[in-house]
Amino acid sequence: MSCFPVRLQEVRQAVSVCLRSLTVWAVRLTGSKYGCGGGGCGACTVMLSRYDPQTKHIHHFSVNACLMPVCQLHGAAVTTVEGIGSTKTRLHPVQERIAKAHGSQCGFCTPGMVMSIYTLLRNKPQPTMEEIRETLGGNLCRCTGYRPIIEGYRTFCEVISSFISGFHHCLLCLVSQGQTETSGKEKLLPLDPTQELIFPPELIRMAESEERATQTFRGERMTWISPISLDELLQLKSQHPQAPVVMGNTNLGLDIKFKGVIHPIIISGFRVRELCVCVCVAGVCIGAGSSLSTVRSVLEKCVCSLPAEHTQTLAALLEQLSHVAGEQIRNVATLGGNIASAYPNSDLNPVLAAGRCSVVLQSREGKREVPLDKDFFVGFGKTVLKPDEIVLSVFIPVSRKGEVVRAFRHAPRKENALATVNAGLRVWFEEGSNVVKEMSVYYGGVGPCTVSAERTVQQVIGRPWNEATLSDAYRALVDEVTLGASAPGGKVMFRRSLTLSLLFRFYLHVLQHLKDTVRPPSGPWGSCPLKNRVQRNRWTTDVPSGQSEQDPVGRAVQHQAALSHATGEAVYCDDFPRTQGELFLSVVTSARAHARITHIDVSRALSMPGVVDVFTADDIPGKKFRSFTGIDEEILAQGEVTCVGQMVCAVVADTKPHAKLASAAVKVHYEDLPDRIFTVEEAVEKRSFFLPQREIQRGDVTKAFQEADHVYEGEIRLGGQEHFYMETQSMLVIPLGEEKEMKVYASTQHPTMVQEAVAETLGIPSSRVSCHVKRIGGAFGGKVTKTSILASITALAAWRSERPVRCVLDRGEDMLITGARHPVLGKYKVGFMSDGRITAADVRYYANAGHTPDESVLVIEKILLHMDNAYNILNLCSQSAACKTNLPSNTAFRGFGVPQTLMVIENMVNDVAMVLGRPAEEIREKNMYKETSLTHYKMEFDPENLLRCWEECKERSELDRRRLDVARFNQQNRWKKRGIAVIPIKYGIVSTAAAALVHIYKDGSVLVSHGGTEMGQGIHTKVQQVASRELDVPLSMIHISETSTSSVPNTCPSAASFGTDANGMAVKDACQTLYKRLEPIRKQDPNGTWQSWVQLFGSNTSFIKWGKNKGHDLYMDWVKQEGRPYAYFTYAACCSEVELDCLTGEYRTVRTDLVADIGQSINPSIDIGQIEGAFMQGLGLYTMEELKFSPSGVLYTRGPGQYKIPAVCDVPLQFNVYLLSGSHNPHAIYSSKGIGEPTLFLGSSVFFALKEAVAAARSDAGLSGPFTLHSPATPERACVACSTCFTQMIPQAETETTQPWALELP
Ligand SMILES: Cc1cc2nc3c(=O)[nH]c(=O)nc-3n(C[C@H](O)[C@H](O)[C@H](O)COP(=O)(O)OP(=O)(O)OC[C@H]3O[C@@H](n4cnc5c(N)ncnc54)[C@H](O)[C@@H]3O)c2cc1C
Ligand code: FES
Ligand code: FES
Repeated sequence: MSCFPVRLQEVRQAVSVCLRSLTVWAVRLTGSKYGCGGGGCGACTVMLSRYDPQTKHIHHFSVNACLMPVCQLHGAAVTTVEGIGSTKTRLHPVQERIAKAHGSQCGFCTPGMVMSIYTLLRNKPQPTMEEIRETLGGNLCRCTGYRPIIEGYRTFCEVISSFISGFHHCLLCLVSQGQTETSGKEKLLPLDPTQELIFPPELIRMAESEERATQTFRGERMTWISPISLDELLQLKSQHPQAPVVMGNTNLGLDIKFKGVIHPIIISGFRVRELCVCVCVAGVCIGAGSSLSTVRSVLEKCVCSLPAEHTQTLAALLEQLSHVAGEQIRNVATLGGNIASAYPNSDLNPVLAAGRCSVVLQSREGKREVPLDKDFFVGFGKTVLKPDEIVLSVFIPVSRKGEVVRAFRHAPRKENALATVNAGLRVWFEEGSNVVKEMSVYYGGVGPCTVSAERTVQQVIGRPWNEATLSDAYRALVDEVTLGASAPGGKVMFRRSLTLSLLFRFYLHVLQHLKDTVRPPSGPWGSCPLKNRVQRNRWTTDVPSGQSEQDPVGRAVQHQAALSHATGEAVYCDDFPRTQGELFLSVVTSARAHARITHIDVSRALSMPGVVDVFTADDIPGKKFRSFTGIDEEILAQGEVTCVGQMVCAVVADTKPHAKLASAAVKVHYEDLPDRIFTVEEAVEKRSFFLPQREIQRGDVTKAFQEADHVYEGEIRLGGQEHFYMETQSMLVIPLGEEKEMKVYASTQHPTMVQEAVAETLGIPSSRVSCHVKRIGGAFGGKVTKTSILASITALAAWRSERPVRCVLDRGEDMLITGARHPVLGKYKVGFMSDGRITAADVRYYANAGHTPDESVLVIEKILLHMDNAYNILNLCSQSAACKTNLPSNTAFRGFGVPQTLMVIENMVNDVAMVLGRPAEEIREKNMYKETSLTHYKMEFDPENLLRCWEECKERSELDRRRLDVARFNQQNRWKKRGIAVIPIKYGIVSTAAAALVHIYKDGSVLVSHGGTEMGQGIHTKVQQVASRELDVPLSMIHISETSTSSVPNTCPSAASFGTDANGMAVKDACQTLYKRLEPIRKQDPNGTWQSWVQLFGSNTSFIKWGKNKGHDLYMDWVKQEGRPYAYFTYAACCSEVELDCLTGEYRTVRTDLVADIGQSINPSIDIGQIEGAFMQGLGLYTMEELKFSPSGVLYTRGPGQYKIPAVCDVPLQFNVYLLSGSHNPHAIYSSKGIGEPTLFLGSSVFFALKEAVAAARSDAGLSGPFTLHSPATPERACVACSTCFTQMIPQAETETTQPWALELP
């Protein structure tokens, strides 16, 4: 049952539980996923349906199951992804289309995507493209790059004509060209609304007949009271004034979950109808209990029905509402809750305040109407509400003739992100004039609560609306709205400048409004907003003529598990059913960056309910450390901690909540130690490195510098990047109770490392430990070393308790503990000639490794090996160092240092172009490898395909024409600028040995086991394709069940883009041998079938075959500084154009054209998916994703609320990926090439396009030449670099005397 009604009896035991926990543990539906627990990722999306006995209407809406309290569900029907279709019965079109469009990779986000769109279609079977896009705004995906998801769902749009005409090019089309089972849209399952699940009639009967009474649920730590009338609610509030009134639980829920706030009593206002009454008289009165989605539809109706001059405030509110959170949150979060929460950056409060709105507050003593103005908000999270009062309703007056109201916001991401700064502004003019009669300006995000700029307003009232008046207003605003240098949230200068630029934006808007009264200002002010419409991808591919129909190699075969992803049937580590006596493990982490542990007090934790064990490093029976590159690192801290987040001890309890509570009760006592090191500069000063450092030299650098026409020195800082795999670190360890055998189920890229780590920690042979990986919900390098340490700890818990133990990190813990991509400081000195030839380069790299070595030395080696990128610089020298700091230990991340080194080099080349005043692509081209050459480590290669990618990219992107268009655009627009950049890449792919095991069963079915883990990159699908070709059997006969150390031992990790190269070869080898063994039988019975041959197969002939791939002989001699560390290179080039809003630093990628040389693709749809996903991850790395640490080394960014990865709104409006034709690669299977990592760097084309746009803005400000723009080029950095008149008005913060809110890394 997966559409289930919720009745009272089901929730009695689950007072503090969210719906996600109920579906998993009580109803055993694991389809919806747990990605963050805070409403920020959408992985847990389900549909709720409610019947309203008054209107007889059934209301369907999507919610985040992770925030929905079970107590709030009485009478609702919950539909999870399992309920709408399955592979065993019938698929739902929503499930089928995302699968066929190749819209799932690891699949962890897929059920959430499916349920968001399913809910949309339940309410609107033919939505518009904009509605689809908006609906997906609350769902994050870390793998796909979103485009295929949008493509798949585009097929539901009412405007399908464009779809049909463009069908030839889209991904579904590739499927349709007869290359796999389906053919065209007509073969897609039709959406038939009459076939949808019906609302459970028993719930209708219940709602009609129910005697409505107060419900009370008592739990272990909390009592939940849900009254039905306002009187009862007020009565309860007067009895329990400290008890909060919960509505949508989107704020309260986060406090309880993540801040440990305990409320013994909670009063739910959810069933109180009086809180949801909306009336429209002389304005709009909206019940405080109305959800933001309801508010939106009420306002939309009012805006349509009222004369335009009365709708200013309503329209401004509507504008803000469309940007608040995602759909799932808007469906439950209430207007009253938003106001009462008094967030400093609430999007609604500034516009409500500016729009002269008021709230009706009520207690048992009576009602009072209070203006929602500067006096309403009295501090952080505080309002004038008395403890026994509630917000009953909000009154929004209609605007008056001559009144203009607007709201603006700027957020780190355009959608589903809390605003950095927002504003609500209103001005009222004397009739028929431009003289200001009244004005209000409110800001959010610049103080502890919503702020009124009263003194600024006084500068304007009574004066005409013109530049002189506004200039005075800016000056007043700079003095009035200030932020200290250490203000929480940081970005002080940027936030202050936003207050000015948003006011300026209002000024321009009002001028438009007044255009009959005054002349608009002269000069190029702005461009039309870009249409938010993602266009289809264009690419073509073909298999050789004559290839058998059955042979799947080279075809766009759907991901082998796509339907399992889309139906929620795909099993991830945490989906394994709870086993008898299972325990849960939670780790206790250090709160200090560098300290001696003086005492660990576990007594309270041990006495808490359900707690079974607490252990420390002393309890480890085997090796107490791990070494990944020859340097030991402790599994659990012993005596000293060296970063915040280091694991100190572990708590084991019967349930996750008990384990979490107990781990919070462990008291670790510390004695701080001196010499904390956080930045690479501090590390260099104190010579704090993990050794060895690496260096490389080529040519005569000193002489080349002397002879160069120009020498320029620069630097760039690159921030780290959180992996943000959607499935957090998860594992389940089961002791088998015999001969010390342990079974480990883990979400890991490296099962062998987990196996070894567990065996060594427990002091038992590896043969007693088996590690099994079904699939991984994203990894990106983050599930190699860190998972093996966590698995060791979990295994120890299972060893000690002799019971199965599960460990699944919460998102915040995962981000805190497991490290990220290495932040890097790159310093360079470059010598070049006036014609653009770079003749000398001296580059230093400092990577912030964190407190343990992990694989950092390997990372800095790869940094040096890739420092040439596509350029033949004959004289260069370089050094790289892994700096040891007191931050969490950084680890492998897609690209393994390459995205960092290439950024430094490309920035250097860009600087050369800026010094010479030439287009950057000209300098790039001039310095590119042109013919068969030696790299700086003396490896010979032929750059032909690099040059072909480059040329094709320039041509396909129409670079020359568009460069002129960009220049024209920039001339015509003052505050919007465009930039365009093309970036090449040459990426070395290693090769390693691998093994595989192939079984053929008597019924002809084939089971393939290999060492690669499926983490979304489609390795199992490609391997199936290989086996299908080699055995000459249909794909459907080949099965891959899991990756296991007991099937294929001593495997290499799935990493560095070599997975298919290595494992595919091993499978090919095994299959070829088996095929040969069948040859006599095939000859004997040439008309037989695969099944008949297999049955004829003699019992003396083995049905099992090992396959091997021995890999290439690769090496790097760091003493001689030469080697052949790579088997071959993958090449690509990418051109991106962006449009930058210089006032806010927000940008949009207008178009991206990417040409990649991936040899002969085994599966173009999977490869394109990898390319797009990597590009988007790179775009995140270079322009959005920021890890923030406090001055004492505490990670602030611990969830999607604070750490923004690209969302659907960040996909380039036009995103074209082309595969280079006619490319062959003798070094990998079927002439293919590894592709998972290389194209991540191409996200930097967006960075360099942005830099160019910034340069255009700087040129308007009279600035020219190279300038520093660190990565990520966040809106803050881009805006400040533009150096507009607004940023220039802000006085420099007193940074020398005040500690900033966050560390400046690396
Ligand atoms: C992922 C996410 C993204 C978000 N993005 C945005 C955004 O972009 N912009 C934005 O403005 N906000 C955003 N929010 C905040 C969200 O809008 C608020 O959390 C929400 O409006 C609060 O309403 P609620 O009904 O869920 O309140 P609850 O969590 O139920 O309650 C919050 C507080 O308000 C009190 N309260 C609630 N109703 C009343 C009442 N009628 N009378 C008295 N007290 C009351 C409660 O006692 C509690 O103290 C986001 C939240 C999340 C989780
Ligand atoms: S898990 Fe619910 S939104 Fe992320
Ligand atoms: S497929 Fe979306 S997160 Fe992996």
